[in-house]
Amino acid sequence: MKQEVHCRTSPSLALVKYWGKKNTRQNLPATPSLAVTLGGVHTDTRVRIAKKDSIRLDGQAVALDRFLPLFDSLRRAAGRNVCFRVESSNDFPSSAGLASSSSGFAALTIACARILELDLSPAQLSAFARTGSASAARSLFGGFTLLPAGGFAAQQLYGSEYWPEFRILIALVSRKAKPISSRAAMEATRYSSPYYNAWLRTAGQLLDPALRALEARDIQALGEVARLSYSRMHAALLAASPPLLYWLPTTVAVIRECQSLRDQGVGAWETLDAGPQVKVLCLASEVETISRSLQALDPQLKLIVASVGEGPVCEAEDS
Ligand code: DP6
Repeated sequence: MKQEVHCRTSPSLALVKYWGKKNTRQNLPATPSLAVTLGGVHTDTRVRIAKKDSIRLDGQAVALDRFLPLFDSLRRAAGRNVCFRVESSNDFPSSAGLASSSSGFAALTIACARILELDLSPAQLSAFARTGSASAARSLFGGFTLLPAGGFAAQQLYGSEYWPEFRILIALVSRKAKPISSRAAMEATRYSSPYYNAWLRTAGQLLDPALRALEARDIQALGEVARLSYSRMHAALLAASPPLLYWLPTTVAVIRECQSLRDQGVGAWETLDAGPQVKVLCLASEVETISRSLQALDPQLKLIVASVGEGPVCEAEDS
């Protein structure tokens, strides 16, 4: 019997975005996503068997509704009717558009499966994690990952060693939790944005050029595709009723600064998710130049440099 399982994962940042569901009940994505697992930012989750289910995130008790379907399906798979006590923490702001649900559900899935002594392959774990949050299917792996449209599980395309110079510079524009979750915003886009169908029709077309750019380790080609992906996703969000706008003035200033850096020949390619933070894709050799110019915009702006992360790490304490 395991007494406690500890699992450490990292967020999955989409370069080609998943936005929209093909099947809500099974949480199957309507669009393919290509992502990088971030190195240097983590979720740490500890799970124990307990008398009743409970979850504390960064020290605060959280509502169980979103987690119970995952708990129940893992309990069913193991044939064990036990409860979990979960303590999870992020070393980056939670629910602020830094993909904390990807690393959070991945860590939770692995730790619960391990404490239940379920022997699952990474692909099976990825499929369980997807039911919690589709982006979590990708956090099951390090390096560069792919979750196909309608896919049950993600797969690793390249390991973390594939592109050692690749960096993601995170501009932490706000530490506040986002006003509307990705899940709710995705749903609102589907039923109220006239651009949703255009998004669905075109989102998949970005996958092949992104795969080619990744194969060639071409930061400019990859950056151009990533920029189209986030811009089109946010265009669909803005066209929702009421409009969904996650950007803050500093978000726009950072986007513009990246453009100005590119005009000067510096490869700074921004991408955004459902939140105000800007993540700049670049090479290690340009991190200093880009950091200096973003810091000049706002000396208070917190910058985090992430590399390509490794996959989950898990340890268990036996009783
Ligand atoms: C913009 O995976 O958080 O970050 O499946 O409803 O939990 P649910 O959504 P979630 O959405 C992530 C959206 C995104 C793009 C991406 O990570 O692909």
